[in-house]
Amino acid sequence: MTRVVVFLAFVVGLIAIMNLRKFETAKVDNAKFDFEKTKTANLKKQKEIADLMAPKKEVVEVKEVEEGPLVVLSTEQLVRGEALYKKCIVCHGQRGNGKKSQKAPAIGGQHEWYTELQINNMISGVRVNKVMNPYIKKLSAQDVKDLAVYISKLPPMGK
Ligand code: HEC
Repeated sequence: MTRVVVFLAFVVGLIAIMNLRKFETAKVDNAKFDFEKTKTANLKKQKEIADLMAPKKEVVEVKEVEEGPLVVLSTEQLVRGEALYKKCIVCHGQRGNGKKSQKAPAIGGQHEWYTELQINNMISGVRVNKVMNPYIKKLSAQDVKDLAVYISKLPPMGK
């Protein structure tokens, strides 16, 4: 028993001495922990990560084309004309470009005098237009003028 204890003590002592010798020969690393250097390196990494995680920017910017009003209602006559024209849209179209299904011709951009004359002729019966008659028979001479002015400002051929 004592022999075993002595032997074990010897082994422990030997290991202790060997380890102490290791300390003697261990190389001392004098390189200092450089705080500033580490900080910059970390910030650089962080920036890289943030850049990678940032949502991709659209390269092509969608340009919104703002459409102006069809006719700038700069006068009271145009305001009245626009209101009266609402009844004509069903056949002649919002832009005055006509509708084949209604056999209604394009009238947008037409000369005022011509439109006025045609409508007046339709009202008086000189020009017969049965389909349009219900829409124009109650129009006053001024209404016809207002409509003609508005129609003349519509884009020619609906363009
Ligand atoms: C129900 C459909 C209809 C409605 C609503 C209508 N029109 Fe017409 N319009 C026609 C048709 C069809 C013609 C072509 C008739 C012809 O050839 O004689 C026409 C012809 C015309 C013409 C003659 C064009 C030209 O080149 O000679 C004018 C001007 C006109 N319309 C203006 C109007 C106005 C203004 C209104 C609204 C108050 C109106 N129309 C509402 C169907 C319509």
